[in-house]
Parts: sequence; C-alpha cells; structure tokens
Amino acid sequence: MRKLVSEVHYLRDFNMSCFIVRVLLLCFLFANTLGVPRNFSVDYKNDCFRKDGEEFRYISGSIHYNRVPRAYWKDRLLKMYAAGLNAIQTYVPWNFHEPSPGQYNFSGDRDLDQFLQLAQDIGLLVILRPGPYICGEWDMGGLPAWLLHKKDIVLRSSDPDYIAAVDKWMGKLLPMIKPFLYQNGGPIIMVQVENEYGSYFACDHVYLQHLAGLFRHHLGNDVVLFTTDGAGIGYLKCGALKGLYATVDFGPGGSVSAAFEAQRHAEPHGPLVNSEFYTGWLDHWGEGHVTVSTTIMAKTLNEILAIGASVNLYMFIGGTNFEYWNGANTPYAPQPTSYDYDAPLTEAGDLTDKYFAIQNVIKLYRKIPQGPVLPSTPKYAYGTVPMKKLHTLVDALNIISLSGPVKSTYPLTFIEINQAFGFVLYRTKLPVDCSKPTPLSSPLNGVHDRAYVSVNGVAAGILERNKALTINVTGKAGSQLDVLVENMGRINYGKDINDFKGLVSNLTLGADPLTDWELYSLSIDQAVSQGLLWESGSSEPGPPPPSTLSVPSFYGGTFVIPSGIPDLPQDSYIQFPGWRKGQVWINSFNLGRYWPARGPQVTLFVPASFLSTAAPNNITVLELEADPCTPGPCSVEFTITPILNATVISDHKHQRALFHKEDLL
Ligand SMILES: *[C@@H]1O[C@H](CO)[C@@H](O)[C@H](O)[C@H]1NC(C)=O
Ligand SMILES: *[C@@H]1O[C@H](CO)[C@@H](O)[C@H](O)[C@H]1NC(C)=O
Ligand SMILES: *[C@@H]1O[C@H](CO)[C@@H](O)[C@H](O)[C@H]1NC(C)=O
Ligand SMILES: *[C@@H]1O[C@H](CO)[C@@H](O)[C@H](O)[C@H]1NC(C)=O
Ligand SMILES: *[C@@H]1O[C@H](CO)[C@@H](O)[C@H](O)[C@H]1NC(C)=O
Ligand SMILES: *[C@@H]1O[C@H](CO)[C@@H](O)[C@H](O)[C@H]1NC(C)=O
Repeated sequence: MRKLVSEVHYLRDFNMSCFIVRVLLLCFLFANTLGVPRNFSVDYKNDCFRKDGEEFRYISGSIHYNRVPRAYWKDRLLKMYAAGLNAIQTYVPWNFHEPSPGQYNFSGDRDLDQFLQLAQDIGLLVILRPGPYICGEWDMGGLPAWLLHKKDIVLRSSDPDYIAAVDKWMGKLLPMIKPFLYQNGGPIIMVQVENEYGSYFACDHVYLQHLAGLFRHHLGNDVVLFTTDGAGIGYLKCGALKGLYATVDFGPGGSVSAAFEAQRHAEPHGPLVNSEFYTGWLDHWGEGHVTVSTTIMAKTLNEILAIGASVNLYMFIGGTNFEYWNGANTPYAPQPTSYDYDAPLTEAGDLTDKYFAIQNVIKLYRKIPQGPVLPSTPKYAYGTVPMKKLHTLVDALNIISLSGPVKSTYPLTFIEINQAFGFVLYRTKLPVDCSKPTPLSSPLNGVHDRAYVSVNGVAAGILERNKALTINVTGKAGSQLDVLVENMGRINYGKDINDFKGLVSNLTLGADPLTDWELYSLSIDQAVSQGLLWESGSSEPGPPPPSTLSVPSFYGGTFVIPSGIPDLPQDSYIQFPGWRKGQVWINSFNLGRYWPARGPQVTLFVPASFLSTAAPNNITVLELEADPCTPGPCSVEFTITPILNATVISDHKHQRALFHKEDLL
C-alpha cells in the first residue's frame, strides 16, 4: 500500500515536472527565436560532444519500442530516467512499419512519434538507429521480407532494387523524424547510418556513401550522423565512412582502452563512444540461457565512464519478440520469444540488482533524479485454465485459408505466394504405394524452418532445417500428404540474411522429387482476432493418437479476471504443462512461440494490457506436436514467476562466445 502511495506521488511529481519541463521548453523555444540555437555537435578539438555550447557526454540505454507494448512505454522510460540515464537508444525496424511495399503503419504499438514525444517529455534524449538494416535479433535484421521478391537481390549493397526500396522508405521515415531532431526542438541528438556494416561481406562503400547522402538530404547538415562497429580495426575498415562519426561496440570484462584504441584508429579525435555496451546477451532455442555478471558489468561500466566516454547500455530493457518477430543466427538457431537479455530491467520491466548496480555507478558521475523509482509492476496468477481441442489445423483450412490453394508443380517459397510470416500448408499425394517405411527427405536442406508432416491426417514426423532432413512415411498411393511449414524467424546477421521460407527446395519420396503441390497461405492471426476458430465448436474427441506425435491443432480456453481484487488485470506469465511447441494468442494478441520441449524459455510474458475485464479472455493455442487434450484433461497455467533458464541439452556443438557477434556465425 505504502508503495502505491509513493507511486502516486511520484507520478504527480512527474506530471508536475512535466509541466515545468514544458514551460521551460516554451521559454527555450522563445529564446530560440531570440537567437540562442539548440545545437549538438562533435567537438574534435576537445574530444567530446558539445550540446548548446557545453561539453556533453551521454549515458544511454537501449529500449526497442517494438518490443514493449505501448501501454508500458512510459513506465519503462521513467525507470530508465530514474536510473540516471540522460538518453535512450532505439532502432526503427523497417519491416515493422512497411509490412508490404508502400503500406505504412505508424499507429498503436508502431507509433514512433508518440514514443519519441514521451522520451522528450520525460527528459531523455534519443539516439536513433533507423537502419535500414538493424540486426537487433529481429526478423531479417529489420529488412522487409518482400525485398526477396527479387530472388537474387544483394541486400545492404548498391543493388538498384534494394536502393530504390531504401530510398522510398527513408523518404517516408526521415522527414517524419526531422522535427524531432535536437536542433529542431526535439530529443534526437544523433542518427546512426546502417548498423555494424563492417561485419558484412559486401563492404560496399558506394552503398554507405549513398546512405550518408540520403540521410543528409532529408535531415540536413546539422545532425550528427554516426556508424557503429565491432571494436576492431578490421570492422572499421568497411564500417566507417568519412562524414559519419565512427563509434564502437564492446561488452564487459575486456580492456576498455584497447577497445577505444580501435575507435581512435578511425577517429583520432572526438568523443569516445561505446554504442552497445552489453548488459546481458541473447538466447537461442535449444541453448542454455545466458546471463552476464552484474559485478563485472558494473566494473567495466565504471571504467568507461571514468575516462569520460559516452556509452549506451544494450539492452536496458530487452522486452519481447511478440508475434513472429524474432530473428535467428547461423548455423540456423532462432531466438526465443523473450528478449529479456538479462538486462537491468526484466522483460516485464521489473527492477533487478543489475539496475541498482548501474544506478550506483552512474551516481559517481552524474546527479541522478530524486525520489523513489517506480516499483516493479505487480503480477497475478490467474490459475489453471482448462483447454479443449477446437479443430485440427487441416479441418480449419476453410477458416484460416482465405484464398484457395495455389497450384504448383514444384514447391514455392512463402514470399512467392505473398506470405511473410507464420505457417503455410503444402499438400500433395503420395504418388506410389509406400507399404514399407519410405524416406521422405529434403536432400538440399530446404525445409525453412520446420515441417510437420502427416499422411491422411495422421502425424508422420517432423523435418527441421539443419537437424532432421529425412523421416519415413507409409501409405497407399493417392494418400494425402500434408506438410505444414513453420517460418521460425529469418536470419538477422551475417551473409545469409536472404532467408527464404517454406520449402525452398524439393522434397523427395524415395529417389524422386514430389510434384503437383497445392499451397495454402494461412491467415491464422486474422481468424483468431475474428473469433472464427471458436465458432462451430469442438471436434469430436477422436481416437487417441497412435504415437506421441499429433497433427497440428487448435485448442481454446477462457478465463475471467476475478472481481473484488483491486488493480486487476495485472501482468502475468503463461506456461504449457504437457504441451511441446506452438503459438499462443490471448484475445487477438499473438504472444509468440512457446517451446518448453526445447527451452530454455518456458513462460511467456502476458502484459495486463492484453487482458480484458469486460468479457472472458480467450486463449487460443496452435500446438504443433503433441495433443495433451487426448485423452485429457489438459490446461495452461498462469504464474507470477518467469522461467527463462530451464535446463536444455544443447544440441549445438558450436559454442557461442559472448559479446562477439562474429562468433554467431
Ligand atoms: C551552439 O549553441 C551555443 C549556445 O546556445 C552557441 O553559443 C553556439 O554559437 C552554437 N553553435 C553553433 C555552431 O551553432
Ligand atoms: C498497425 O499496427 C497496429 C499496432 O500493431 C495494429 O493494431 C493495426 O491493426 C495496424 N494497422 C493496419 C492497417 O494494419
Ligand atoms: C526408415 O526406415 C528404415 C527401414 O525400416 C530404417 O532403416 C531407417 O532408420 C528409418 N529412417 C528414419 C529416419 O527413421
Ligand atoms: C525441383 O526439381 C525440379 C526438377 O529437377 C527443378 O526444375 C526445380 O527447380 C526444383 N525446385 C526447387 C524449388 O528446388
Ligand atoms: C472471447 O470470445 C468471445 C466469443 O467470440 C467474445 O464474445 C469475447 O468478446 C472474447 N473476449 C475478448 C476479451 O475479446
Ligand atoms: C534459473 O533462474 C532462477 C532465478 O534466477 C534460479 O533461482 C535458478 O536456479 C535458475 N535455474 C537454473 C536451472 O539455472
């Protein structure tokens, strides 16, 4: 209760200070008209940034608005401000805003203007990283999958089709952000061009030069444009460009002076900047959860600040890869739904020891805001929700496939049938009798990324990119062969970012390629949000599945937010006892993928803003492998404790090193 009161006070103080900030801002704008310009620049002579004439250094934190529900932007930004940061850093993911060519979305959770405005109202400067490529463990590094309509496009290069798309996108985005530049009265002090370009094989200076010109054209000459690369001379060779201020990335534990020496190689003068100081690190399905020592992190942060460098803590809050937005590394290893990152604020925005350790270091260099920090948001366990089977995916085809099948002799990729994300059903017939187990194979490793195979409606096995290229099937000639292919996230880093999805090469039965396919593009999210899967109720409980494997099916359950308990709904986590792998929606919100059978993530974050008190909340699950409801009973559970570190038996021989993205290759 006490906490709540102080929170209210804090918010009132905040509103008050917001008011004061606005008044000051008005005075400032007034002063501006009297000829005191707001300016931000690199001071090469004194090795620092200069803001309104004063020496300046930033202590920034990364938050990706695309990984935090809009309802929580303010909470997270206030907590970042209270930690002592004077700036935030965010990417702008192109594919989040231009889902198909020329169709832009800047509303709701994609309202970039609103996010920038909030940062400014709270008193945080912004370092903007609009790409066009962002990496960021985000599908295809933020590039829209529709670029792959040109099959041999060379992304991140002077390829004319790529450049034409980039020019058009930047022609939309950059004029939008121009009013938010610092010198125009907004919070943005710096804008990054491309991202870690020195790690990319193309090393195309003409491309980088083109981007620099494009940014200058739209944003003017006053803004500080910069690049970021690994802290090694090798990276800066292709990543740095005259006219763009070169900065570096490095994590805790190593030699700070050695890392900055690399920057000095490209920038003999000017401020020292670490644009990505890693507070934690990313995870992959099937590998152990990664954590980074608070003590070591705090020690290196202290060293960076002690020499007067500017720094951005990546991530300050990681957030969530909702829907299908996670990326993947090579050899193919997709990232899980949670992007917690072992950051100082958890996925749910909760305060951690790391948060206070960082605050304590910043305190040594900068006055931090007075008053209590906003508390962690309360969590609530809504209990166990009984689930029932609604339909098999194949039985629901008329609901989830809006246009009839596309026929093709050989398989087409997702993008060839204009679907970017999710699942596509590939259907054909067994051309010959397979009375003995007959190998169904993807000899060229062309299942991108996972395929759930059934014959006449009975599960036959799973094919998986790099992992399972052959299964056996049996059945009479003419039996229906269904191959549901899941896109598990496009590669976001390295030379393989042209990551086509679906069956990207032929499947063979015995020695012969299968032909005469029917492809069903699936609009599952649309069917879920229209409540269609719940109509015409549950299928009869069929015979028990013949093996532990089941055909992909939809399951549903509802729960109500209890009345009489104050402050509900609150955040929660959902987990899946007895379930193996799939996708889950609450109401019309796609929470992401669950895969406790592989780990390390077990629980999915459920933000309160996805829940309703006005009507029972609907949980829809697409389970791809198991059928926990036959014979049943089956359920999902809400809990207040996240589990992101369940033990996994790593199937990666490849030992990935921390803080070196090249080791992700
Ligand atoms: C930047 O702002 C300061 C303080 O307002 C002013 O003295 C200085 O002349 C400005 N510099 C430029 C390059 O506009
Ligand atoms: C734009 O994005 C918002 C937030 O994700 C979403 O609610 C809305 O439906 C999208 N608009 C269109 C036209 O797709
Ligand atoms: C397929 O069946 C054959 C013959 O029964 C067997 O030798 C082989 O191991 C099976 N392959 C797989 C992938 O199950
Ligand atoms: C499938 O095989 C055929 C015949 O060999 C070939 O023409 C076609 O390009 C292949 N398709 C794919 C997607 O690999
Ligand atoms: C859940 O589904 C039912 C039936 O379609 C619908 O009436 C209800 O509004 C849904 N609940 C929410 C919170 O959307
Ligand atoms: C997972 O994390 C929790 C909370 O930090 C910790 O108590 C637990 O020991 C960890 N489990 C494993 C298997 O590492």
